[in-house]
Amino acid sequence: MSGTARNFFILALAYGIVGMMLGLHMAMSQDHTQMPTHAHIMVLGWLMSAVFAFFYHLFPEIGRSLLARIHFALTAVAGVILLVTLYLFLAGNPAIEPVLGLASIAFFLGMVLFAWVARPALFGR
Ligand code: HEM
Ligand code: HEM
Repeated sequence: MSGTARNFFILALAYGIVGMMLGLHMAMSQDHTQMPTHAHIMVLGWLMSAVFAFFYHLFPEIGRSLLARIHFALTAVAGVILLVTLYLFLAGNPAIEPVLGLASIAFFLGMVLFAWVARPALFGR
Protein backbone atom coordinates (compact mmCIF):
# COMPACT_ATOMS: atom_id res chain seq x y z
CA MET A 1 0.00 0.00 0.00
CA SER A 2 1.22 3.51 -0.75
CA GLY A 3 0.06 7.11 -1.05
CA THR A 4 -3.58 7.88 -0.25
CA ALA A 5 -4.41 4.19 0.38
CA ARG A 6 -1.64 3.90 2.98
CA ASN A 7 -2.60 7.21 4.62
CA PHE A 8 -6.20 6.05 5.00
CA PHE A 9 -5.14 2.64 6.33
CA ILE A 10 -2.87 4.21 8.99
CA LEU A 11 -5.77 6.50 9.98
CA ALA A 12 -8.11 3.46 10.13
CA LEU A 13 -5.75 1.53 12.42
CA ALA A 14 -5.39 4.53 14.75
CA TYR A 15 -9.19 4.89 14.96
CA GLY A 16 -9.60 1.14 15.54
CA ILE A 17 -7.19 1.10 18.47
CA VAL A 18 -8.52 4.31 20.09
CA GLY A 19 -12.16 3.30 19.51
CA MET A 20 -11.74 -0.16 21.04
CA MET A 21 -9.89 1.33 24.03
CA LEU A 22 -12.89 3.62 24.57
CA GLY A 23 -15.24 0.60 24.19
CA LEU A 24 -13.27 -1.35 26.77
CA HIS A 25 -13.26 1.66 29.11
CA MET A 26 -17.04 1.99 28.74
CA ALA A 27 -17.55 -1.73 29.42
CA MET A 28 -15.23 -1.80 32.45
CA SER A 29 -16.58 1.39 34.02
CA GLN A 30 -20.19 0.50 33.08
CA ASP A 31 -20.54 4.10 32.00
CA HIS A 32 -21.90 4.16 28.43
CA THR A 33 -22.19 7.95 28.15
CA GLN A 34 -19.68 7.94 25.29
CA MET A 35 -21.48 5.20 23.32
CA PRO A 36 -22.12 7.47 20.28
CA THR A 37 -18.44 8.53 20.29
CA HIS A 38 -17.29 4.89 20.41
CA ALA A 39 -19.82 3.88 17.71
CA HIS A 40 -18.71 6.68 15.38
CA ILE A 41 -14.97 6.15 15.97
CA MET A 42 -15.51 2.51 14.98
CA VAL A 43 -17.78 2.95 11.95
CA LEU A 44 -17.07 6.49 10.67
CA GLY A 45 -13.39 6.12 11.66
CA TRP A 46 -12.14 2.53 11.41
CA LEU A 47 -14.60 1.07 8.89
CA MET A 48 -14.94 4.06 6.53
CA SER A 49 -11.20 4.81 6.47
CA ALA A 50 -10.49 1.12 5.75
CA VAL A 51 -13.01 1.16 2.87
CA PHE A 52 -11.35 4.30 1.44
CA ALA A 53 -7.90 2.65 1.87
CA PHE A 54 -8.92 -0.45 -0.07
CA PHE A 55 -10.65 1.64 -2.74
CA TYR A 56 -7.50 3.68 -3.38
CA HIS A 57 -5.42 0.48 -3.25
CA LEU A 58 -7.62 -1.04 -5.97
CA PHE A 59 -7.53 2.13 -8.07
CA PRO A 60 -4.00 3.52 -7.53
CA GLU A 61 -4.31 5.94 -10.45
CA ILE A 62 -7.28 7.65 -8.78
CA GLY A 63 -5.34 7.65 -5.49
CA ARG A 64 -2.51 9.65 -7.08
CA SER A 65 -4.82 12.54 -8.08
CA LEU A 66 -4.75 15.85 -6.23
CA LEU A 67 -8.47 15.52 -5.43
CA ALA A 68 -7.87 12.16 -3.73
CA ARG A 69 -5.23 13.80 -1.51
CA ILE A 70 -7.65 16.62 -0.72
CA HIS A 71 -10.28 13.95 0.10
CA PHE A 72 -7.87 12.37 2.60
CA ALA A 73 -6.93 15.70 4.21
CA LEU A 74 -10.56 16.86 4.51
CA THR A 75 -11.80 13.49 5.83
CA ALA A 76 -8.96 13.15 8.35
CA VAL A 77 -9.14 16.71 9.74
CA ALA A 78 -12.97 16.89 9.81
CA GLY A 79 -13.26 13.36 11.24
CA VAL A 80 -10.81 13.93 14.09
CA ILE A 81 -12.40 17.29 15.00
CA LEU A 82 -15.88 15.71 14.78
CA LEU A 83 -14.97 12.83 17.10
CA VAL A 84 -13.00 14.90 19.64
CA THR A 85 -15.76 17.52 19.87
CA LEU A 86 -18.44 14.78 20.11
CA TYR A 87 -16.50 13.34 23.06
CA LEU A 88 -16.28 16.79 24.71
CA PHE A 89 -19.97 17.49 23.98
CA LEU A 90 -21.10 14.24 25.62
CA ALA A 91 -18.71 14.87 28.53
CA GLY A 92 -20.81 17.92 29.36
CA ASN A 93 -19.58 20.81 27.20
CA PRO A 94 -22.63 22.00 25.21
CA ALA A 95 -20.78 25.15 24.05
CA ILE A 96 -18.70 22.99 21.67
CA GLU A 97 -21.79 22.11 19.58
CA PRO A 98 -21.21 24.68 16.75
CA VAL A 99 -17.72 23.22 16.11
CA LEU A 100 -19.23 19.70 16.17
CA GLY A 101 -21.84 20.82 13.63
CA LEU A 102 -19.29 22.45 11.31
CA ALA A 103 -17.00 19.38 11.47
CA SER A 104 -19.99 17.13 10.64
CA ILE A 105 -20.80 19.23 7.57
CA ALA A 106 -17.12 19.20 6.51
CA PHE A 107 -17.03 15.40 6.93
CA PHE A 108 -20.18 15.12 4.80
CA LEU A 109 -18.58 17.31 2.10
CA GLY A 110 -15.64 14.87 2.16
CA MET A 111 -18.08 12.07 1.29
CA VAL A 112 -19.56 14.12 -1.57
CA LEU A 113 -16.03 14.83 -2.84
CA PHE A 114 -15.27 11.08 -2.69
CA ALA A 115 -18.35 10.35 -4.85
CA TRP A 116 -16.86 12.72 -7.44
CA VAL A 117 -13.31 11.38 -7.11
CA ALA A 118 -14.52 7.76 -7.42
CA ARG A 119 -16.59 8.25 -10.57
CA PRO A 120 -13.87 6.99 -13.03
CA ALA A 121 -14.10 3.61 -11.25
CA LEU A 122 -17.78 3.49 -12.19
CA PHE A 123 -18.00 5.14 -15.58
CA GLY A 124 -14.41 5.30 -16.87
CA ARG A 125 -12.85 8.61 -17.80
C1 HEM B 1 -12.73 -4.14 22.26
C2 HEM B 1 -13.81 -4.23 21.52
C3 HEM B 1 -15.10 -3.49 21.83
C4 HEM B 1 -15.69 -3.20 23.03
C5 HEM B 1 -15.20 -3.53 24.43
C6 HEM B 1 -16.92 -2.49 22.72
C7 HEM B 1 -17.82 -2.02 23.68
C8 HEM B 1 -19.01 -1.40 23.40
C9 HEM B 1 -19.97 -0.95 24.40
C10 HEM B 1 -19.80 -1.10 25.90
C11 HEM B 1 -21.00 -0.39 23.73
C12 HEM B 1 -22.25 0.26 24.36
C13 HEM B 1 -23.44 -0.65 24.27
C14 HEM B 1 -24.68 0.06 24.79
O1 HEM B 1 -24.59 1.00 25.60
O2 HEM B 1 -25.80 -0.34 24.37
C15 HEM B 1 -20.72 -0.48 22.32
C16 HEM B 1 -21.55 -0.01 21.30
C17 HEM B 1 -21.23 -0.02 19.97
N1 HEM B 1 -20.08 -0.54 19.40
FE1 HEM B 1 -18.56 -1.40 20.39
N2 HEM B 1 -17.04 -2.37 21.37
C18 HEM B 1 -15.96 -2.96 20.78
C19 HEM B 1 -15.69 -3.05 19.43
C20 HEM B 1 -16.48 -2.53 18.43
C21 HEM B 1 -16.21 -2.65 17.01
C22 HEM B 1 -15.01 -3.40 16.42
C23 HEM B 1 -17.20 -1.99 16.36
C24 HEM B 1 -17.42 -1.78 14.88
C25 HEM B 1 -16.54 -2.04 13.93
C26 HEM B 1 -18.10 -1.47 17.37
C27 HEM B 1 -19.22 -0.73 17.11
C28 HEM B 1 -20.15 -0.36 18.04
C29 HEM B 1 -21.41 0.31 17.70
C30 HEM B 1 -21.88 0.71 16.30
C31 HEM B 1 -22.08 0.53 18.91
C32 HEM B 1 -23.44 1.20 19.10
C33 HEM B 1 -24.49 0.12 19.06
C34 HEM B 1 -25.89 0.70 19.23
O3 HEM B 1 -26.24 1.65 18.51
O4 HEM B 1 -26.63 0.18 20.09
N3 HEM B 1 -17.63 -1.79 18.61
N4 HEM B 1 -19.50 -1.10 22.13
C1 HEM C 1 -21.87 13.82 9.20
C2 HEM C 1 -21.60 12.77 9.93
C3 HEM C 1 -22.57 12.12 10.91
C4 HEM C 1 -23.44 12.70 11.77
C5 HEM C 1 -23.67 14.19 12.01
C6 HEM C 1 -24.12 11.62 12.48
C7 HEM C 1 -25.09 11.81 13.46
C8 HEM C 1 -25.67 10.80 14.19
C9 HEM C 1 -26.65 10.99 15.24
C10 HEM C 1 -27.24 12.33 15.66
C11 HEM C 1 -26.94 9.76 15.75
C12 HEM C 1 -27.92 9.44 16.90
C13 HEM C 1 -27.12 9.36 18.19
C14 HEM C 1 -27.98 9.11 19.41
O1 HEM C 1 -29.20 8.89 19.30
O2 HEM C 1 -27.41 9.12 20.51
C15 HEM C 1 -26.15 8.78 15.03
C16 HEM C 1 -26.14 7.44 15.28
C17 HEM C 1 -25.42 6.50 14.57
N1 HEM C 1 -24.64 6.77 13.47
FE1 HEM C 1 -24.12 8.59 12.79
N2 HEM C 1 -23.66 10.43 12.03
C18 HEM C 1 -22.73 10.69 11.05
C19 HEM C 1 -22.05 9.78 10.30
C20 HEM C 1 -22.17 8.41 10.42
C21 HEM C 1 -21.51 7.46 9.57
C22 HEM C 1 -20.61 7.85 8.39
C23 HEM C 1 -21.85 6.23 10.03
C24 HEM C 1 -21.44 4.87 9.52
C25 HEM C 1 -20.41 4.66 8.72
C26 HEM C 1 -22.72 6.40 11.18
C27 HEM C 1 -23.24 5.40 11.96
C28 HEM C 1 -24.08 5.58 13.04
C29 HEM C 1 -24.52 4.50 13.90
C30 HEM C 1 -24.12 3.03 13.78
C31 HEM C 1 -25.37 5.08 14.86
C32 HEM C 1 -26.08 4.34 16.01
C33 HEM C 1 -25.15 4.34 17.21
C34 HEM C 1 -25.37 5.50 18.13
O3 HEM C 1 -26.51 5.76 18.53
O4 HEM C 1 -24.39 6.22 18.44
N3 HEM C 1 -22.90 7.74 11.39
N4 HEM C 1 -25.38 9.44 14.11
